[in-house]
Amino acid sequence: WSSTAHKRDGDLVVGGVAVADLVAEHNTPAYVLDEDDFRGRARAFREAFAAYDVYYAGKAFLCTAVARWVAEEGLCLDVCSPGELTVALRAGFDPARIGYHGNNKTVPELRRAVASGVGRIVVDSLTEAERLAAVAADLREEGHLAGPQGVMVRVTAGVEAHTHEYIATAHEDQKFGLSITSGDALEAVRRLLASPDLDLRGLHSHIGSQIFDSSGFEVAARRVLGLHATVAEELGVELEEMDLGGGFGIAYTTQDDPAEPSRLAEEMTRIVEHECRGRGIAVPRLSIEPGRAIAGPATCTVYTVGTVKPVMLDGGAVRTYVSVDGGMSDNIRTALYDADYSCTLANRRSDAPPVLARVVGKHCEAGDIVVKDEFLPGDVAPGDLIAVPGTGAYCRSMASNYNHALRPPVIAVRDGGARVLVRRETEDDLLALDEG
Ligand code: LLP
Repeated sequence: WSSTAHKRDGDLVVGGVAVADLVAEHNTPAYVLDEDDFRGRARAFREAFAAYDVYYAGKAFLCTAVARWVAEEGLCLDVCSPGELTVALRAGFDPARIGYHGNNKTVPELRRAVASGVGRIVVDSLTEAERLAAVAADLREEGHLAGPQGVMVRVTAGVEAHTHEYIATAHEDQKFGLSITSGDALEAVRRLLASPDLDLRGLHSHIGSQIFDSSGFEVAARRVLGLHATVAEELGVELEEMDLGGGFGIAYTTQDDPAEPSRLAEEMTRIVEHECRGRGIAVPRLSIEPGRAIAGPATCTVYTVGTVKPVMLDGGAVRTYVSVDGGMSDNIRTALYDADYSCTLANRRSDAPPVLARVVGKHCEAGDIVVKDEFLPGDVAPGDLIAVPGTGAYCRSMASNYNHALRPPVIAVRDGGARVLVRRETEDDLLALDEG
């Protein structure tokens, strides 16, 4: 739960606002974003990693208000698509503090990023190294390149991160980054250094997401620093920066035990300093890219219960299926990653004995599950409100219009007030794309 969330006589209150009052005005499903919590986590990362640049990973959740909060809290921003760049620029985010990711950036995309003055572009393939050098040269000739474009090289550290296969990104057999072992990463460094229009700042590694075990970061840092040292030895260039990516895990259930930013900062700094000392090289300027750890806990999703259906399981136990008015279109993570969530009754106190419940959506498939297992009061009934915490990252940003669902609004709460950051979609929004 976000830091200001609490129960008042059975009513869930976030940011000083009773969720039931919010629902009376804005309906459900809705994402309720605790602004102080989001800002607090952003600030905690910036303060703990004071010697680093902290890039908030906008893919977790981005809208113009959030981009402004990120800027106000002194963080940089990581974007990975033209759409995210547009939101950031619309919010007035300083382009020099934006990093641009992606494994398949097109020529128009790169042209726009360079021409907008994006601070650094993270190169993900040899093809892209050539493409970016050509784009920067063209822009220079056209008089649109202020100075050499900052770039980083994304490398695959060859680490098996302990997380879901779909969100692990540093083993060899996946699409991101340039291999250190094959020599491609060093070759990309060579080609980027050869371009007078590019300013190679350093190497980048992101090993995956929702990671709790720091040994993955340790192995990655060691391998990336190994390449950093090779670049110094073989090419005579001391790279100034290094990015260790994001991926810091958050608590979705009481079983998860995430580390505080201050402990993460201590561990990462210790790992890098130890490794640099061993190799006799200067510590590069470091940066990280947390997304989930800032945005995730700040938001909960509120749903209205529509039907309650007890189902007899083999062995005689009962599972109560609680259908809510959203589902995999506003939170795909349970269906896609087998993610665990919890939930609570948000609109009243109940002393009814708990029942084993499964919170499901209203989409046309059996895998449309929001919360796999939770004990809810046995008198849970149609019209009740259910709130699911920890939905601030990769829920609204991965929301879809499956079954022509209307994507829910994002409502920020703070000090007893509420403000719609992203409005609810309407059927007119859906029909606007339908050319008949
Ligand atoms: N940097 C890079 C290069 C990334 O690819 C990512 C996430 C991040 C930073 C931020 O990672 P975070 O701190 O948020 O874990 N949709 C999945 C997560 C995909 C993560 C993609 N990249 C999920 O819902 O779990």
